[in-house]
Amino acid sequence: MKTALLKVENLAKSYVPGEMVWKHVSFELGRGDFLYILGGSGAGKSSLLRTLASFESPSDGRVLCQGVDLRTSGRSELERIRQRISFIPQNLGLIPDLTIEDHLELSRLGIRSSERMEEGALKNVIALTGLKDKLGKRISALSGGERQRVAILRAFTRKVDLLIADEPTGAQDFEMTWKLMDLFVKLNLSGTALLLATHDLEMVRRLRKRCAILKDGSFKVEDRA
Ligand SMILES: Nc1ncnc2c1ncn2[C@@H]1O[C@H](COP(=O)(O)OP(=O)(O)OP(=O)(O)O)[C@@H](O)[C@H]1O
Ligand SMILES: [Mg+2]
Repeated sequence: MKTALLKVENLAKSYVPGEMVWKHVSFELGRGDFLYILGGSGAGKSSLLRTLASFESPSDGRVLCQGVDLRTSGRSELERIRQRISFIPQNLGLIPDLTIEDHLELSRLGIRSSERMEEGALKNVIALTGLKDKLGKRISALSGGERQRVAILRAFTRKVDLLIADEPTGAQDFEMTWKLMDLFVKLNLSGTALLLATHDLEMVRRLRKRCAILKDGSFKVEDRA
């Protein structure tokens, strides 16, 4: 039997004793899958994605990434798994005093050349995000939408098995949103699995994919693709 890219088993999260943000979260993601994570503000999308990206620990349950349990994996194994995942967090995680170029360099630090996105492909993404003339600018000198595009661009510097994106186009205008979604779809078609949180139902209607819904602490995967 093929090992799932991501296997989530009965995951639960609580920040305050006795108060669960979500529980009984179970699903599998295969290579090249695309799954929307839907839910209203505060439903738990970001906390779930941070947990799946291994930046937060669950209160219960486990996440297996290519068969490796994130809870019990050693440091070097966890590092290896993280190198195969790109994460675009909702808060972007950019450093204000560093330039766009600095961020791109940092994200490729220690990554073998075979695992880096090819220069030509990266140049195309830079052009598409409209950041070509701003590469030397500090993050603090960019607009909110531009900063979000830097976080997206950074996710395209490496070849990964899984891209986890938390409302990645929330600060973009209509035209840019669809340019970026086209980029995500192409990446997905090339074999990278995608977990994409949004509350943009218009997007879900236009680009139909499997949906998972977080509501009142429960998680349900629907088949609406
Ligand atoms: N670090 C934290 N400490 C305590 N509570 C937290 C923490 N992070 C999230 N929460 C709580 O968990 C719940 C879910 O938050 P989360 O950010 O996951 O929601 P979300 O679905 O991403 O919302 P939004 O659409 O507004 O981004 C919220 O009630 C929030 O207050
Ligand atoms: Mg969120």
